[in-house]
Amino acid sequence: MTSKLSRRQFLKVSGGLVAAPAALAAGTAQAATGEVGRTTLPYKPKAVAKASQLKDNAPVTFTFPDEASPCALVKMSRPVPGGVGPNGDIVAYSTLCTHMGCPVSYDAGTRTFRCGCHYSVFDAELAGQMVCGQATENLPQITLRYDEKSGAVTAVAVDGLIYGRQSNVL
Ligand code: FES
Repeated sequence: MTSKLSRRQFLKVSGGLVAAPAALAAGTAQAATGEVGRTTLPYKPKAVAKASQLKDNAPVTFTFPDEASPCALVKMSRPVPGGVGPNGDIVAYSTLCTHMGCPVSYDAGTRTFRCGCHYSVFDAELAGQMVCGQATENLPQITLRYDEKSGAVTAVAVDGLIYGRQSNVL
């Protein structure tokens, strides 16, 4: 015995089969994070520095969200986008170039991060904005939290995708 599906019935059935795994995957991601639309696992906050011990325009290196992800924190001495602390001037960035992952270094004279591989330049005072060079993406900015009581500056998330990763939290 053979049964024939109409074109409409076929599309209904096949559409349902395609949509089901996608809905399941979305539901799993939502269940893992507890937030609708969130695409990464939660970050584990990491204390990076005490605001009172930071010197203007002098970078402090650390890793976040894991040991394989180098970052630098800088007190810019004037309020900047994403800045925290008493003056809103403390920012941090991933120090892996968004072009091909070479390490960038901070240039205090121009207040930029520079890549020695192909000479990309990123503005530390403008949320890691790509200024020139081969890179096409800004440096990922580390989201910082400042605790007024203790003066602690803590890394809590990353705004942007760290070079070479499909997800910032592995
Ligand atoms: S890796 Fe930095 S500019 Fe190419």
